Amino acid sequence: MGSLDLRFSIWVIFLCCFSLSRDVVEASHEVFLNLQSFQPITVSQNHRTGFHFQPPKNWINDPNGPMYYNGIYHLFYQYNPKGAVWGNIEWAHSVSTDLINWSPVEPAIYPSEKFDINGCWSGSATILPGNKPVILYTGVDQSNRQVQNAAIPKNLADPYLKEWIKPSYNPVILPDKDINASSFRDPTTAWQGPDGQWRVVIGSKTGKEGTAILYKSKDFIHWEKAQHYLHSSKETGMWECPDIYPVSGGGRRDGLDTLVVGKGVKHVFKVSLDDTKLDYYTIGQYQHDTDQYVPDRESVDNKAGLRYDHGKFYASKTFYDAGKKRRVLWGWMNESDTVPNDIAKGWAGLQSIPRMVWLDKNERQLVQWPVDEVESLRDRKVKLFNKVLVKGEPLQIKGLTAEQADVDVEFEIESLEKAEAFDPSWTDPQILCSHKGVEVEGVIGPFGLKVLASKGLEEYTAIFFRVFKAKQDHVVLMCSDQSRSSKELDIDKTTYGGFVDVNMVDRRISLRSLIDHSVVESFGGGGRTCITTRVYPTMDVEDQANLYVFNKGSETVKISKLKAWSMKKAEIA
Ligand SMILES: *[C@@H]1O[C@H](CO)[C@@H](O)[C@H](O)[C@H]1NC(C)=O
Ligand SMILES: *[C@@H]1O[C@H](CO)[C@@H](O)[C@H](O)[C@H]1NC(C)=O
Repeated sequence: MGSLDLRFSIWVIFLCCFSLSRDVVEASHEVFLNLQSFQPITVSQNHRTGFHFQPPKNWINDPNGPMYYNGIYHLFYQYNPKGAVWGNIEWAHSVSTDLINWSPVEPAIYPSEKFDINGCWSGSATILPGNKPVILYTGVDQSNRQVQNAAIPKNLADPYLKEWIKPSYNPVILPDKDINASSFRDPTTAWQGPDGQWRVVIGSKTGKEGTAILYKSKDFIHWEKAQHYLHSSKETGMWECPDIYPVSGGGRRDGLDTLVVGKGVKHVFKVSLDDTKLDYYTIGQYQHDTDQYVPDRESVDNKAGLRYDHGKFYASKTFYDAGKKRRVLWGWMNESDTVPNDIAKGWAGLQSIPRMVWLDKNERQLVQWPVDEVESLRDRKVKLFNKVLVKGEPLQIKGLTAEQADVDVEFEIESLEKAEAFDPSWTDPQILCSHKGVEVEGVIGPFGLKVLASKGLEEYTAIFFRVFKAKQDHVVLMCSDQSRSSKELDIDKTTYGGFVDVNMVDRRISLRSLIDHSVVESFGGGGRTCITTRVYPTMDVEDQANLYVFNKGSETVKISKLKAWSMKKAEIA
């Protein structure tokens, strides 16, 4: 059976038998009860990634408990062993020495006890003194309450920490009468205060107020709820996957271990907003004496705030990599596809390329960049310098595998004089990008990349910039336009956008895109604005895919330098 026939049959099966079982009750995921254990008939290789983390089949979501321990990186993640939709969730486990090539080991945590029999949901790892890792995760217990449990490695001498045990003192944290037992999950990595006590934060909500509930413990077994929240914010809804960590000041890239407090050190607090499915963070200060986190005045605590990524990036989590003294961020990138298509493919969900994160020099936002190790996959290289882009004539970049590539380009704008005026009412960059899509000509921009393109540009995904003139300085907009990414009609092609907080005095702006079959992860302005998109081209796919650089603005734009590499396949099983 051809893949189109297969897709069609799956649609029919879906429409006839399963559509009524769609249910939105549980947790934060749409639940398709009858599809949860629907094993893929075949696994489609089309659109599968070459270097983004993806298991051989089935559904994945949140990255869990990432850690570096005795020279090995561990990635756990939410996994459905039985199907390509959310369900039957367990902690799958892979190990690596370089964050790029991964070997699977057996699942670490799966439902087995009263306190997690209905689900083993997200959580984090903490390395206790004596070099002893412990995981705290959310279990859904026999009465469907969300409770917090501990798991520890069975054998610390096993370099891969393959087996995890759940001590009999579980659960370690139960929701009390003031906590909604259906909205109480995703413990953070724990940290120790100056009093020696451990602290951990659990995501929750009270009515519509998102809350980060703080617990303390002397022994990591008995936990007590603190008098007040670590942090909360009205009208934001359920806070999933909270994350709090320190960052060095002064633009220094060196990472810091969990909850260092000191001169020049700032803190980041991130939540995944269940209502909008977006990750937001603020920059601020965690105060040891009050045990509270206070965002900086200019750092907004709701959906107008800072985002790791303006595209597909959710339930993210960082860890401190003691090996390379850096902080590394992972995020889950879901499909843009329909559920029947996911079932026909036999898989759904990816993890991002791990990103190093640090505080920008301006201390207003974070900067993100793919970990250096990804460069070990770079293969054939193409270089280009000082090339003027003629308006409306896309320049094809040849000589590399355009479906699996790393492209790093710097644009130089001849003059900013004629930049269009920025209307101060344009507060939402995503809406602005949808109004000013890739086909809308401008003065400075749109210019950027057309990736995963068919030869005649019937299909492509465009990542581009526009520059406007505001009262004081210039405003840079970065967009990712998926509207022509695929001839398929029923997939989500929402346009994404973000502003790039860069100074345009040198009239230069950079864009790096990691292109990988059905994912494009882009870093604008040296990693100040990131957009990830998931697309499914149908025409010139695999080794027929094309890459273009373009300018559709009336002002001259030049490629000051471009370096692009074919990427080798990572070993991910
Ligand atoms: C508790 O959380 C669940 C899940 O979000 C929600 O449906 C329910 O209304 C909440 N209960 C109360 C009392 O707020
Ligand atoms: C996943 O993708 C769909 C469609 O592209 C989107 O509507 C949904 O909210 C996404 N995110 C999560 C976290 O489920």
